[in-house]
Amino acid sequence: MARLSVNVDHVATLRQARLSREPDPVTAALKAEIAGADGITVHLREDRRHIQDRDLAILKKTIKTRLNLEMAATKEMLGIALEVKPHMVTIVPEKRQELTTEGGLDVRTHMDKLKRFIQTLRESKIAVNLFIDPSPDIVKLCHKTGPDGVEIHTGRYAEALTDRERSVELKRVYDSILLAKRVNLRIHAGHGLDYQNVSDVAAIKEIEEFAIGFAIVARSVYTGMEEAVREMARLVR
Ligand code: PXP
Repeated sequence: MARLSVNVDHVATLRQARLSREPDPVTAALKAEIAGADGITVHLREDRRHIQDRDLAILKKTIKTRLNLEMAATKEMLGIALEVKPHMVTIVPEKRQELTTEGGLDVRTHMDKLKRFIQTLRESKIAVNLFIDPSPDIVKLCHKTGPDGVEIHTGRYAEALTDRERSVELKRVYDSILLAKRVNLRIHAGHGLDYQNVSDVAAIKEIEEFAIGFAIVARSVYTGMEEAVREMARLVR
């Protein structure tokens, strides 16, 4: 049965819109756990546009499930990860101007740097996933860097406009997953998944965990966090 890690970044986006104290992503995370989330994900961005260092530190101390820290491969983030010690780190590319993470990591260009980065984190007993585009070639390169697993980017699948495009993208996701499985990488998936499009991806039994944020936080405005998480957990399982 796949796990659901709930990304609470956009609870913090709303709080930061007024530089206020609420809504608090920590409270949202605890409610997500009550509703059955298997983990909590946050992306501490270089520009701190949503999650703040304070959120990360309190989440580590309060949540009872697994904390997944998404971060760029920078010196600053490495220092934070080694201090906070989340259960796992997902390394993502980061551009200041983007609205959200736009694509997977450029593993080829940053191979040596990623290898060193991953080794340092794993020596501190922090599991590491790389967020990559769904391509068997990238899975092969990724394997060479020595991570525990991959998170396959489902954004293009989620954004497909036609059934044909959607099935081509889903096949890309599936082919990459099969290769990742063959080389013994843990398989996570995420980005752009919502209540309408998640089921076809959730049918891929090799996926161990989903990281889903925006759709859950958006729905929680209408239904509350617990109901929004309960329904998504039902769909991914
Ligand atoms: N996985 C990664 C690596 C991400 O960067 C994000 C967005 O922060 C997600 C999953 C969740 O995507 P969404 O908010 O579209 O569900």
